[in-house]
Amino acid sequence: MKTRIGILTGGGDCPGLNAVIRAVVKSATKRGWETLGVMGGFDGLLGATHTRALDYHQMDGLLYLGGTILGASNKGRFSGKAGHGETRQIDPAVLAEARAGVESLGLKALVVVGGDGSLTIAQQCFEAGIPVVGVPKTIDNDIEGTAVTFGFDSAVAFATDALDRLRSTAQSHDRVMVGEVMGRYAGWIAAHAGIAGGADVILIPEIPFNLDSVCRVVAEREAQGKHFTLVVVSEGAREAGKGYVTLGDAGAIREARLGGIGAVVADEIGRRTGKETRVCVLGHLQRGGAPTTFDRLLCTRFGASAVRLIAEGKFGYMVAHRPPDTEAIPIKEAIGRLRTVPLDGDILRTGRALGIGFGD
Ligand code: F6P
Repeated sequence: MKTRIGILTGGGDCPGLNAVIRAVVKSATKRGWETLGVMGGFDGLLGATHTRALDYHQMDGLLYLGGTILGASNKGRFSGKAGHGETRQIDPAVLAEARAGVESLGLKALVVVGGDGSLTIAQQCFEAGIPVVGVPKTIDNDIEGTAVTFGFDSAVAFATDALDRLRSTAQSHDRVMVGEVMGRYAGWIAAHAGIAGGADVILIPEIPFNLDSVCRVVAEREAQGKHFTLVVVSEGAREAGKGYVTLGDAGAIREARLGGIGAVVADEIGRRTGKETRVCVLGHLQRGGAPTTFDRLLCTRFGASAVRLIAEGKFGYMVAHRPPDTEAIPIKEAIGRLRTVPLDGDILRTGRALGIGFGD
């Protein structure tokens, strides 16, 4: 009987998920193994199980296809997180049912492609006896242990292009344009896209901001004859001494939905400076669509490495980008620890050297 492995995509989607699936299936096939796709995230392991056979020849076109052909889910009977920094223990009966599902499908191993929440579940599955290998996914780039997660570069590329567009309309109308980007409690997307897109102000969760400081940048630019300003705000940015701006209450097993801080910042800038100000929320456009060249390559390397880890029996490990190589680290070293933009790192140093305001 052929060796059979499974793969699932958990949590929110992200550019490059299909590229990982393709690389796993192709490299598993080269070893003479077969691959089953588990549908709808971890829930596909429960009950009668929900899977589809993934054939080498069906992988054509997946390298650049957005979304995930396996579906993803961050709700249901599996939910690894309940709020910022908290970890929910999955019901042991659910984990046992998932293990029974893996056994009934005859899987030698399960590749879990996911962010912090899904990798937290993967670790609990591993501790419950499921041979798991992880692949770190998220546009937020907030997972420890890897230099970068896949999806991040694609989100930054999209956001940078959007900022270029916001800048030209800001300049035409002598306006302040505020672009709100995703990233949850880490400011990676805002910092990278903001610098690459030539923003004048970048507000990130790591640096609680002061609106006077933001308005000072607008005024200084006016004084220099520059009548437009480009501001990038991370959805998790907040004013010093104030809370996060969210879109409604978090459900019992869901993290708070961040969003709306861009509008708050735009309104206040308009009120305090008298400048015409507009906000643009980039939202899920950052998560959809094709991966960039960098992400295609990273996903392909991650998928091939995940299969290599299975061949080596390195269960409970996750692939990690440690330039110039892809390495393996224990999943438990990566989860539950938000990786944020270092205050003394090169990204912020670069931004400050260029005179970008960070609201402090
Ligand atoms: O973690 C990825 C992410 O896109 C965050 O940047 C964002 O806050 C969140 O997911 C949005 O999740 P949902 O699509 O469930 O609202």
